Amino acid sequence: MKICVIGAGYVGLVAALSFATFKNNVICVEKDQEKVDKLKQGVPIIYEKGLEPLLKTCLSKKKIIFTTDIDRAVKKSDIIFIAVGTPTKEDWSVDVSQVMEVANQISQSINTYKIIVTKSTVPVGTQKRIKDIIHDNGVQENKYDVVSNPEFLREGRAINDFLHGERIVLGCDSEKASSIMKKLYKPLRTPVIVTTPPTAELIKYASNAFLATKISFINELANLSNIVEADIDTIAYALGMDKRISPEFLQAGIGYGGSCFPKDTKALVNIGKHYDYDFRIVKSAIDVNETQRLLPIDILLNHYESLEGKIITLLGLTFKPGTDDIREAPSLYIIKALLEKGAIVKCYDPMVSNEIKKIYPQLTYCDDLYDSVVDSECLILCTELDDIYQMDLKKVVKKMMNAIMIDGRNMFDMDEVKSKGFKGYYSMGKGSYT
Ligand code: UDX
Repeated sequence: MKICVIGAGYVGLVAALSFATFKNNVICVEKDQEKVDKLKQGVPIIYEKGLEPLLKTCLSKKKIIFTTDIDRAVKKSDIIFIAVGTPTKEDWSVDVSQVMEVANQISQSINTYKIIVTKSTVPVGTQKRIKDIIHDNGVQENKYDVVSNPEFLREGRAINDFLHGERIVLGCDSEKASSIMKKLYKPLRTPVIVTTPPTAELIKYASNAFLATKISFINELANLSNIVEADIDTIAYALGMDKRISPEFLQAGIGYGGSCFPKDTKALVNIGKHYDYDFRIVKSAIDVNETQRLLPIDILLNHYESLEGKIITLLGLTFKPGTDDIREAPSLYIIKALLEKGAIVKCYDPMVSNEIKKIYPQLTYCDDLYDSVVDSECLILCTELDDIYQMDLKKVVKKMMNAIMIDGRNMFDMDEVKSKGFKGYYSMGKGSYT
């Protein structure tokens, strides 16, 4: 099929390349000329495992082209995916202006029948708004359909998740569009759920908000475990053995980050608010996460009278391993609080991007993990990186001023840390000593 994907961000680029792997010809439209130039040369503009070889293969087989020309791309395609950004506004509402702008542009170029698909996560009612825009621009009703097709991929496993997902959700109000969309996805052999557009739009928020709530739930249990001296890992293991709960997403820590959970939980609460519905559980999940990510600061303030002039080392900055993405990472909030308290912050993350250096130029970014711990008062482990798991704890202790570890991702065993000479250790629900 002839496919156009508008927006070469995380979702758009992964979707475009994935579609190009199975019998489709894809045109990927991106308004940023610099990004288009890089992509044409086979340079991936985001870090994602497997993306670079896939990009090079698709380019060499001429299965994909990159362009800034939306008009030509729409005219030459049967199915047009909108995958532009939908950032959160101050009031937790979703900024859909880029989606609406693109819908407007598409409507100017509709020559033959087109299916316009929202891939971006959009609030309930967006499919209808897009239909209205196209209608108001005078396009005949038999020339287009609008479908909601949310994406469930995870960063770090994006291509695999796209090609081997657990379900494909199609929010359609037209038989013709749903049968073409089912045909498009048929080679993937993934179960397809066809439903109404508002249901499809809500499924994406429901998924992310449920997972975020699961994390906040286990984090609250971890906090309670710390108080009553219970072990959160054993609790999570036992909980997860109940198939209705499952062992996935029960890892306690300093909270969730990333581009989806923080954004989509807020959007869901805001959708409720819009319809006068108070979504209390998700509001609480957000609240717990905001406190949880600052737990290392509470621990430090209990441990030290002041953090003024103290060197604190953060190990791992990204919101999870396997990505260079720092969006909404707990580390950003910890750094902000540490700087406000007068601490000197050193950090180590091999995936560190220039983005964080722009936000916090005053930090010391070390290329070597052992350099980052020199004269440090305390280590805060923020991301489960292999380098951290493999670090020589005895060597680390020798280099530190005062060997205290706050294990924000429960990576180490308390007894092991103690045996290697750490003077203090704090976990997220697995005990502590000082
Ligand atoms: C998420 C959803 O999983 C995906 O389906 C959706 O399309 C986009 O949002 P992603 O943001 O890439 O994907 O990351 P994910 O692996 O889900 O982790 C999100 C956050 O939760 C991370 O900060 C991670 O550290 C945290 N997390 C995850 C926990 O704290 N505990 C867990 O048990 C699992």
